Amino acid sequence: MTSPALAPAPVREAIVATGVARRFGSVHAVTDATLTVPAGSVTALIGPNGCGKTTLMLMLSGLLRPDSGTITVAGCDPRTDAAAVRASIGWMPDQLGSWDNLTCLQTLTLMGEAYRIPRATARTRGMELLARVHLTEFAERPARVLSRGQKQRLSLARALVHDPAVLLLDEPANGLDPRSRIELRELVREFAAEGRAVLVSSHVLAELDEMVDDAIFMSQGRTLGDDAAAMVADAKTRYRIGATNPAQLQALLTQYQVAFEPEAGGAIVRVESQDHAAQSLSWIVEHGVAIHQFGPVGSALEQTYMAMNEERR
Ligand SMILES: Nc1ncnc2c1ncn2[C@@H]1O[C@H](COP(=O)(O)OP(=O)(O)O)[C@@H](O)[C@H]1O
Ligand SMILES: [Mg+2]
Repeated sequence: MTSPALAPAPVREAIVATGVARRFGSVHAVTDATLTVPAGSVTALIGPNGCGKTTLMLMLSGLLRPDSGTITVAGCDPRTDAAAVRASIGWMPDQLGSWDNLTCLQTLTLMGEAYRIPRATARTRGMELLARVHLTEFAERPARVLSRGQKQRLSLARALVHDPAVLLLDEPANGLDPRSRIELRELVREFAAEGRAVLVSSHVLAELDEMVDDAIFMSQGRTLGDDAAAMVADAKTRYRIGATNPAQLQALLTQYQVAFEPEAGGAIVRVESQDHAAQSLSWIVEHGVAIHQFGPVGSALEQTYMAMNEERR
């Protein structure tokens, strides 16, 4: 028998959107977007410029009304329960609005007050967030002195003032140098580890690699759904083998009728699982072929992106 004292299960699916569409005059910015974003993980929204990412995120955050489709955020509908949705969402726009003359702490305090947090509490929270995004030393300095990476971190802190359960980050890595990107990645991973749902968009695939748990691909206003998921799963099974003597490797694979794509440095094969990969590697080595490289070809995201663009050609 279940105990009546059990707490309700937390909402695992922080965002659920089905068949969402929005046009501006004759421009169909989003034609059919369906996605779920689970709590406690980072989901990428990937697609080329103009495919509708920002429009979709604005609708998810309740800032723009969809023409059709349904959206729930933390269990609420932005159309009927806008206040609840705003309270549970942190939105980081692709361009930081210029409050250049305010100090970093003033920016966060004001933002907190906009969420009706009392000023003293908002200030304390602002200092905590500045520490969190490594900007403590800039607390009393105007935002205009910040570098691009620092501005992005301030923008991230701004999205967090009301401790939202869901974070929507629009192209946060845009224009960041590699170091800033790694710092951003660490922060985003921490937010997910705290149980937040994070949806992060980009048109540059490499920016999101290693930052995300899952990816939603978008093309010409549509999310690609299961096709793309299948492509990601498929991409993970291609392994590149680099051999000191590529001809010897290729001869071995041919002899045992293992399907492979030949390459100048060796071959690409399919593996069914990590166990299968481990067995294959020992098998090759046992047959006397010297191997200097053995691993998945590129990243799953990259391969899926490429496959997606090939389909479009
Ligand atoms: N407010 C708007 N008015 C007219 N067209 C818009 C507006 N916002 C976006 N669009 C158009 O909708 C399409 C999708 O834009 P957007 O959502 O910004 O894509 P992304 O963020 O993926 O680059 C583009 O063709 C863009 O020009
Ligand atoms: Mg955009």
